[in-house]
Amino acid sequence: MNTILAVLTGFLTLGLVMTATAADSPLFLDASQPREARVEDLLGRLTLEEKVALLHADSKFSASAVPRLGIPRRWMSDGPHGVREEIGPDDWKPAGRTDDFSTCMPCGIALGATWDPDLARKEGEAIGQEARARGKHIMLGPGLNLQRTPLCGRNFEYMGEDPFLTSRMAVGYIVGEQSQGVASCAKHFAVNNQETERTSVSVELDERALRELYLPAFQAAVKDAGVLAVMGAYNRLRGQYCCENDYLLNRILKGEWGFQGLVVSDWNGVHHTAEAALNGLDLEMGTDQPYHGFYLADAYLEGLRDGTYPMAGLDDKVRRNLRVMFATHMFDPGPKGSLNTPEHQATARHVAEEAMVLLKNDNNLLPLDESTLKSVAVIGANATELQAYGGNSSGIKALYEITPLQGILNRVGGKVTVTYAKGYGGINALALAGQAVQAARQAEVVIFVAGLGHAKGQDTEDSDRKDLKLPDGQDELIARVSEANPKMVVVMVSGSPVEMPWLSKAPAVLQAWYSGTEGGNALAGILFGDVNPSGKLPCTFPKRLEDTPVAVLGEYPGKGGVVHYTEGLMVGYRYYDTKKVEPLFPFGHGLSYTHFTYSNFHVAEGAPATVQFDLSNRGSRAGAEVAQVYIHQVQPSLPRPLQELKGFRKISLAPGATQTVSIPLEIGAFSYYDPAKGGWLAEKGQFEIRVGSSSRDIRWSGKFTLEH
Ligand code: BGC
Repeated sequence: MNTILAVLTGFLTLGLVMTATAADSPLFLDASQPREARVEDLLGRLTLEEKVALLHADSKFSASAVPRLGIPRRWMSDGPHGVREEIGPDDWKPAGRTDDFSTCMPCGIALGATWDPDLARKEGEAIGQEARARGKHIMLGPGLNLQRTPLCGRNFEYMGEDPFLTSRMAVGYIVGEQSQGVASCAKHFAVNNQETERTSVSVELDERALRELYLPAFQAAVKDAGVLAVMGAYNRLRGQYCCENDYLLNRILKGEWGFQGLVVSDWNGVHHTAEAALNGLDLEMGTDQPYHGFYLADAYLEGLRDGTYPMAGLDDKVRRNLRVMFATHMFDPGPKGSLNTPEHQATARHVAEEAMVLLKNDNNLLPLDESTLKSVAVIGANATELQAYGGNSSGIKALYEITPLQGILNRVGGKVTVTYAKGYGGINALALAGQAVQAARQAEVVIFVAGLGHAKGQDTEDSDRKDLKLPDGQDELIARVSEANPKMVVVMVSGSPVEMPWLSKAPAVLQAWYSGTEGGNALAGILFGDVNPSGKLPCTFPKRLEDTPVAVLGEYPGKGGVVHYTEGLMVGYRYYDTKKVEPLFPFGHGLSYTHFTYSNFHVAEGAPATVQFDLSNRGSRAGAEVAQVYIHQVQPSLPRPLQELKGFRKISLAPGATQTVSIPLEIGAFSYYDPAKGGWLAEKGQFEIRVGSSSRDIRWSGKFTLEH
């Protein structure tokens, strides 16, 4: 009892105890000791039962404490867009607290659309600070699954269709978040690319697609960002559940990549004790209660006692859990964090501003000029819809959320007459539509805020979309409104591509995504020209669902519980460009209110190549351009996509300014995965280095010979 008290007191008044009784204090409490020494010390003090208790949940979002040694409970929270509201403890009902409002960042695909890893780092820092303030140790994000089909319900949480872009953004986010003493958790490892049958479907795919498309972002999270946790996916890979998958967890993640952190299951993603025990899982969450009935609880303990499972395996799991505990300051006060600060709100706004993509802007309809504009009709249910709380696990109980209409009113209310008509989405569709048409007729300009939401079958967890069409008759209404008033800006609030059959009738289209706490203000800033749009599409917008690679070459959602990724590497622009299929808007596309030119290209030696060019802002406004570098191998031994993104840089330029830009291309930029060799291969020979403003707006292409 005395020892317990001494240890507990030690935790509460750590600083004092460390100076007063340093000799008696356990080594693991000494923050000046190397982390591994602390891990070994604490490991040596734990009983078998205590070790097992650390490997599974004791509420919906926590893992057990060990009071004897003063190990507190570990708290986890979703997710990628901010810190989720409190629930439970043993069910999913909101706890009804008032201290769990937080800042909602724009959704994952919006972050991807910024093409700005520094901004991702800032977002990660802000979420990390909010997590600390809310007492969370592990944040369940970022979501790093690739957009294989635009139908996937969780595309809005992920960062698009390109592994290189997702990798760079993920690294920024994780480095930022973990700098605050919080563990990030890269999820969902791996090939979790559809929500249909997500908890059971088995993905069959060739090794090149796995290595070149679906794994690189996780690899970068581990090797470049030092992510502390990885979440196994619900689905199976080649027949075996991802949370219990020997190949993914033991061989690739921990073996090849040397991951030292912990693998946590997705909630209720574990199915067997033996596989979970032996195939690389370290922390089991979300299984049906009771907690001692979890696969890594009593059943595992029994198997350890009778020798079915090796003690070394247990110790490895415990070490991984302990590492994360030390990294997240569970034995010292750590940073206090902060919640809902003006700085976090400013970051949310900045991300939203950089994320919005100007898809089309005929005759420079945008930006609108408030000094000459007299009236504007805002039409559409999405102008007033709150989005932050939706989508399931990534939903945020935002302290506030500026809707598009509110943002427009904040910006020009009182100066410009703003009328609002919902237009669609109610039971009186005909009346609603009539009002919208009338409002459009009477206004100088229409801002039609269209799109999707987080209802089942739209942008949400646990279901996919059935098609790429806008719901609630929006397509017809947009067409009608454009006839009433052709000066129409369509603002698309969605987390994934939609078909736009009315596109020729809409002179301006702005992709706004789900843009978080400050979204409406960011939107108004762009519409009225305070902010120059600089987002670029992180995924292709196809003309029709029938054009998408999975529809043409692939299989979706699979048959008999199995989905074959027969399209292989032909995902996103890799497909559209190689097979010469015209998209609605290509990957990397995004317009600006200014005009950029590229000149003086050359490829310099180094790493093995560095592409250099001058970028100039030729317009009269400041703006930012994302210069993109694609690689084409002229004669690869194995088939490769026509071009692959291997570098990019976002550069802000004052009007009239020019900057010399250097983008290094490391050997990995030239490589592909050679299944025969079981590794990456950069072949000698000719390459084309292409520099562009989008994947379909290549401004220069130069030859480069790779000589080993
Ligand atoms: C989701 C995860 C999430 C977890 C906990 C699961 O349904 O797939 O992304 O982190 O729930 O909420």
